[in-house]
Amino acid sequence: MIVFAASGKGGVGQSVTSCNLAYRLSLHGISTAYVDFDLGSPSAGAVFEIGSVDSGAETGNGLHSYLLGHDSIHRRVDVRASTHRKALHSRRSRGAALVLLPGDEGCGEAVSANDRQVVRRCRELLLDLDSTFKVVIVDLSAGRSVAMQIALEATRPLDMPDNEVYWLVYHRWTRQHLMSAKRVVHGPKGLLARAVELGYGLDDLLARIRFVRTAVPCVTGEHAAGGGPQAAWLLKQHDVLRSLAAEYRLGDSVSLGEVPVDRLLQWREQIVLDADVGAGIANWATVVAFDNLARRLVDRATWVPV
Ligand SMILES: Nc1ncnc2c1ncn2[C@@H]1O[C@H](COP(=O)(O)OP(=O)(O)OP(=O)(O)O)[C@@H](O)[C@H]1O
Ligand SMILES: [Mg+2]
Repeated sequence: MIVFAASGKGGVGQSVTSCNLAYRLSLHGISTAYVDFDLGSPSAGAVFEIGSVDSGAETGNGLHSYLLGHDSIHRRVDVRASTHRKALHSRRSRGAALVLLPGDEGCGEAVSANDRQVVRRCRELLLDLDSTFKVVIVDLSAGRSVAMQIALEATRPLDMPDNEVYWLVYHRWTRQHLMSAKRVVHGPKGLLARAVELGYGLDDLLARIRFVRTAVPCVTGEHAAGGGPQAAWLLKQHDVLRSLAAEYRLGDSVSLGEVPVDRLLQWREQIVLDADVGAGIANWATVVAFDNLARRLVDRATWVPV
């Protein structure tokens, strides 16, 4: 399956969550490719802690160059074999393949969704990865980006009738983030509007979109912020946001899940290992949340029309 990761705003936690999702999938024995299609600032190399592609592949070696036809084969990095993260490296034999296709460091020449060659090469790459890996996660630039347009064009049902293509839209748990997630999907120039122009069936595409709430403040339990009046206020806001999400068609029925706010991730963009929980520096709830996202993503029941 091909899974596009998108968001209405930058900095919502899309890449860190998607990298952790990819890691959890691989632990479940699901071979996973991670395509860093954030044309502006590829960051997956840093999250996976692979020094050679920390801020993308050296220009000429990454996805951007591949799409422009400067490179015939796209570079693939085995995450467990290449990471500097010792605890991840030492588990090389654990789980299924986890491979990163880095973006280019400093993108230079612009790519365009109107460039037929770019769209064709993107389609060919995704078809190839989809036939090799069980899950292909494609981390797109934030907002209604060129990357999003290329993704939509490359995977049109007409051109990929037999492939399973899904969309995850990440957003934080605030009013403004709900608004921007709504806009990027349902807005006049959003994902659905653009897709219909390209020949997608509206209901079919809607059934393939799920939302992921990131860095959600804990309102109850041991990690809950504040106490007294603040706790009561947080609970009330949480309810207000749930109603707003439902009104905006981002409600519980179309949510893949949520990841609680974790201090470790506030301070450092990284893969959260079970060992981090064991060491007392990450919350168990965070690992459970990433694990649930992985389970739900590959569960057919998730993708029934709502
Ligand atoms: N569950 C979480 N709890 C706390 N902080 C988080 C959580 N998830 C992500 N973050 C932090 O939020 C920041 C933004 O994350 P990330 O880079 O993944 O966002 P992004 O949406 O991919 O941003 P960009 O638009 O720049 O690509 C990072 O510092 C990250 O560690
Ligand atoms: Mg990102």
